[in-house]
Amino acid sequence: MRKKILVTGSSGMVGGYLKKELSETNTDIWYANRANSGPAGLSDFYNQIVAFRPYAVIHLGAETNVDLCEKDPSLAYRSNVLLTSWISRACEAVNAKMVYVSSSSVFGKDEKFLYDELNSPHPVSVYAASKLKGEEAICTLCFKNFVIVRAGWMIGGGKEIDKKFVGSLIRQIKAGHSEIQAVSDKWGSITHAADLARLLVWSLSDEGFGLYHYACTGVVSRHSMAETVIEAFAATNRPSLRSLTSAHFPLAAPRPFSDAIESVRSSELPALLQPREWKSVLLNYVRELA
Ligand SMILES: NC(=O)c1ccc[n+]([C@@H]2O[C@H](COP(=O)([O-])OP(=O)(O)OC[C@H]3O[C@@H](n4cnc5c(N)ncnc54)[C@H](OP(=O)(O)O)[C@@H]3O)[C@@H](O)[C@H]2O)c1
Repeated sequence: MRKKILVTGSSGMVGGYLKKELSETNTDIWYANRANSGPAGLSDFYNQIVAFRPYAVIHLGAETNVDLCEKDPSLAYRSNVLLTSWISRACEAVNAKMVYVSSSSVFGKDEKFLYDELNSPHPVSVYAASKLKGEEAICTLCFKNFVIVRAGWMIGGGKEIDKKFVGSLIRQIKAGHSEIQAVSDKWGSITHAADLARLLVWSLSDEGFGLYHYACTGVVSRHSMAETVIEAFAATNRPSLRSLTSAHFPLAAPRPFSDAIESVRSSELPALLQPREWKSVLLNYVRELA
């Protein structure tokens, strides 16, 4: 019998790549949209999941706007904690594997530079706290059968969908901006959403269990990313790059000094999923968009 998989958040950046990966597997997939899991209908959603009896749920659906979460903690709680908790309960009821994408931003308060799976998380923002509470709900409710993947600063989506930092840089370069400004006092790791999608599909196998960090090797700042994008994208008329501190870009949510991650579990992953070096991954992505 074909395995049944439920995916939430498939209209997002990671979801686009995941759909492509899953289309090459022998599975029946229910792509639940936001309407299925609206706050008013969480118990209905629970019943629908139990009736569907999936082999696994890949739960991507989340409120990912960090500043909006800071301004509206109830929204963050409903979208990132309550929804995750109800899905976890349903997984436990039908013995389905829960696969959840969390965030490197669960770290930061300790002011360390690089965090692995042995470090205890201490989030600095509401968004990050809500993602961590989502993790905790899974560990409590699905303790026998789950995968949690903490991803770094996500890149990907391609020309139309990329509304994140790299997409915005490319739009500025294309519009002929003579100067690009980027923050150089905050650090992190990048994860290509396509790599993550492949890892999520692998995590459905019996080999995948527990908590993983998944990001490219090396630590980046927005400034070093911008330098690479300019190098890859603008052959002529290169804009100048101005280094600024985060104080120049006041935002609703605090950002950690560093939420860069590495993994002590990489040796468990197959060769094709080994973390790649950040600069080549970013260069390749930007060249795809050129
Ligand atoms: N983007 C990053 O930098 C990053 C980094 C680390 C981890 N993550 C995690 O990776 C996962 C996927 O991220 P992404 O970048 O693909 O996100 P995204 O592009 O912002 O997409 C979010 C998805 O979640 C859905 N969604 C939002 N609120 C929802 C709700 N209350 N109930 C159900 N669905 C809801 C959205 O549906 P609509 O289309 O209806 O809005 C969309 O499909 C998320 O769990 C996120 O926390 C992201």
